[in-house]
Amino acid sequence: MLELFPETALVEDRVLSVGGLTAAALADRFGTPLVVFCERTIRTRAQAYRAAAPEDALVVYGTKAFPNVALMRLLAEEGVGADVSTLGELAFAQAAGIPGERLVFHGNNKSDEELRAAAHAGALVALDAPDEPQRAHAAGVRRAMVRLTPGVDAATHSAIRTAHVESKFGLSPDDAIAAIRDAEELGIDVAGVHVHVGSQLTRADESLLSVDLLAAFCKRARAELSWTPELVDLGGGLGIPYEPDESPPEIDEYVHALVDRFHGAWEEPARLILEPGRSLVGPAGVTLYRIGAVKRSGGVVYAAIDGGMSDNPRPQFYGARYTALLANRATEPTAGAYRIAGKHCESGDVLIDRVELPQPHRGDLLAVPATGAYTLGMGSNYNGVPRPAAVLVADGNARITRRRETVDDLLRVETE
Ligand code: LLP
Repeated sequence: MLELFPETALVEDRVLSVGGLTAAALADRFGTPLVVFCERTIRTRAQAYRAAAPEDALVVYGTKAFPNVALMRLLAEEGVGADVSTLGELAFAQAAGIPGERLVFHGNNKSDEELRAAAHAGALVALDAPDEPQRAHAAGVRRAMVRLTPGVDAATHSAIRTAHVESKFGLSPDDAIAAIRDAEELGIDVAGVHVHVGSQLTRADESLLSVDLLAAFCKRARAELSWTPELVDLGGGLGIPYEPDESPPEIDEYVHALVDRFHGAWEEPARLILEPGRSLVGPAGVTLYRIGAVKRSGGVVYAAIDGGMSDNPRPQFYGARYTALLANRATEPTAGAYRIAGKHCESGDVLIDRVELPQPHRGDLLAVPATGAYTLGMGSNYNGVPRPAAVLVADGNARITRRRETVDDLLRVETE
């Protein structure tokens, strides 16, 4: 179970600590729910990507996993740029000091304002619609790539597949050829091509297939347009374990497999781009909740936490499964199976359907691993619940990287 936690996680004297700080110390100082990020884990994972990719490759962080300035600054120190897809994400990347040459701008429906902002930032724009070359040109975009939809069904939840036929993302090979032609005629430097198969991929098979299809596309473009890519962006998508029995590929294994396949399938020189999100920050995050009401209902025993679907809606969206430890009594024998319910006003607000724990009591701390990606970033204010804080921990120090929202924050956007 501890293998799901960040690399600095330890259980000593029954107590979980991360980055040299106990869960209790963190919860007492910053309140709960609290998303705790381990700096060392983020750095190790960024370094794993950089080491496994070719020396000149560009690794950009899928900002949507958790837009956070401090985290992105840390990634920038490791040479990682950002993949952004909205004005807001671009603002996070710029606040983190990420330069234009390390920015990729995505989006299936970019606004003119977004295209102008991308051009102004010097980001590489992924063309994603038949009329986008024209609109991008008008917005001042001078360098771009095309997003190809190769027609691959990733083995993941249907909501996070992106390269299948009927995807809302990218362009079919025919449309992508037309987009390259249109863009080049307008004077846009079409530097490359992009594919992203989907997210939470637990095997490389479909990614490798998409590399083959991408290489086939490059051959076609070379033959029909005398165009070859200078950049090839293989997207993100590598999954992480959420439960002890899951073992998706490691970063180096996955990246080596993709790079080798690419070099086998396309003989011309091209600089690679990778866009990991979840696999950079997901395993670095642990969410701490305080347990409140514990009650039996029929054959189920509920332990309710002070958060839920407003800070992590993944169980509701994707049927995502998590596990947990009782952070202040981690090594005590289990007393049975508990259902971890959130505090929101609906029955579906269940974070974990069934987890074995020591008998939980009001005030205990529950630690949920693998919650660094797509949790707080997808959070909401449902039920008027302010969103939690995030802290970064290292060597016994913690610093807040996103403060807890207050009810006043919620009222600030209201008008009478
Ligand atoms: N590149 C592009 C173009 C993407 O659309 C995404 C994610 C990424 C990179 C990063 O993918 P990652 O390495 O994080 O898998 N909310 C969902 C995941 C949505 C992913 C959206 N796109 C979830 O909670 O599972």
